[in-house]
Amino acid sequence: MSDWSLAIDFGTCFTTAAVRVEQPGSESGARPGVESGAGSGGAGSGAAAVEIENSRYLPSLVCLGDDGRLLTGRAAVQLASQRPERAEHHPKRALLRQSAVLLDDREVDTVDLVAVVLARVAAEARVRCGGTAPARTVLTHPADWSQADLDRLVEAAGRAGLDAPELLPEPVAAARFHAATAQAGEAGPIAVYDLGGGTVDTAVLRREGDGYRAVAVAGNPDFGGRDLDQALFELLRDRALDLDPEPWQRLRSDRTSAGAHQRSQLARELTLAKESLSSTGTVYLAVPGYPDPFVVQGGEYRAAVTPALTASVVLLERTVARAGLTPAELGAVVLCGAASRTPPVADLIAARLGRIPEPAADPKAAVALGALTDPPAAPPPDGATAGEAGSDPAGQDRWTVAHYPDEVDPWFDYD
Ligand SMILES: Nc1ncnc2c1ncn2[C@@H]1O[C@H](COP(=O)(O)OP(=O)(O)OP(=O)(O)O)[C@@H](O)[C@H]1O
Ligand SMILES: [Mg+2]
Repeated sequence: MSDWSLAIDFGTCFTTAAVRVEQPGSESGARPGVESGAGSGGAGSGAAAVEIENSRYLPSLVCLGDDGRLLTGRAAVQLASQRPERAEHHPKRALLRQSAVLLDDREVDTVDLVAVVLARVAAEARVRCGGTAPARTVLTHPADWSQADLDRLVEAAGRAGLDAPELLPEPVAAARFHAATAQAGEAGPIAVYDLGGGTVDTAVLRREGDGYRAVAVAGNPDFGGRDLDQALFELLRDRALDLDPEPWQRLRSDRTSAGAHQRSQLARELTLAKESLSSTGTVYLAVPGYPDPFVVQGGEYRAAVTPALTASVVLLERTVARAGLTPAELGAVVLCGAASRTPPVADLIAARLGRIPEPAADPKAAVALGALTDPPAAPPPDGATAGEAGSDPAGQDRWTVAHYPDEVDPWFDYD
């Protein structure tokens, strides 16, 4: 029998994994390449994030290699920057939307794209945990995925050699992580706002006998951090076109591999600039063909992204209302997902809900770590039944799922 558990948060942009070693006497699961979470790393659970290629965040990108194999990690990122036509940047999104994608001239099953990422993570975790298969695997997923979506995720896990995975909604995992790492245990319901790369999920979770139950969820599968890249891209494009449209048009229409490389490099620099604007006031972006870098101020970026972010916070407000609660009745409002660091997010939540949100101790790894964190013990409230959304199909019927219409361009794309 194996002595460790594996959790995988398969994200639109990045995949995070955590392990928990069950050996008696093992406190933190500390093994080479297995790093405790920020702060207490799922305190009380022994869950620890897995490092792959010196990072806890494995890009979810998959790229078709020269030999026909599907590459992941740095090899995939490197090849994708040179051969963008061979890359699928967001297999999670592709899994939901289509059965296959075209990589170069090969049709690739989207379940296989996901399977190769899960298999990479599982192999890396296995090496660090004694080479045996995990006794238990937990896969997290957006709270509003349909049964058909979940079936495809489970199928991908099966192809990755991970049989019979348990499924846990991402906000439930985030709430568990928060409860384990909060200074004082949260007694009241928790609202989770998770802004990832490709989706925003909001949920209200109540503590019940053996954990948290999602009593209201709402998400937008078409809005995430990549749309904030798009907003910055449009600021840059407008600036460039005002100055001189010719180099921009040349960059846009250059069909050579050098042109494709320049565009993908600019896309990476845009993402880095966008992330930097969470902690600095000004960024500089060099665009091929222009003599000087363009300067973007944090204020203009914030103004550009505030309408879409406001819509996401309205979603959170509605989710709280659908749970039958006022913001004042919440134990905490927790931010997770790496894009929740974008400055207006916390300000908008404070202004609209009158609550100061608390960033998860590790916004990105919170979900994977929380998936292996034991649910907090709490006496069931009056008449409540035990069980958690995701493991209880009856509970899923009580979820309220709402989408707000797309208010931003769907994809960061030069074409
Ligand atoms: N410091 C930062 N400030 C703002 N955005 C950031 C920061 N760091 C990362 N991001 C953005 O967060 C997004 C990735 O977030 P995350 O890794 O939580 O998503 P994911 O789990 O892959 O996606 P999802 O949960 O939507 O499936 C990217 O758009 C990235 O550019
Ligand atoms: Mg995520």
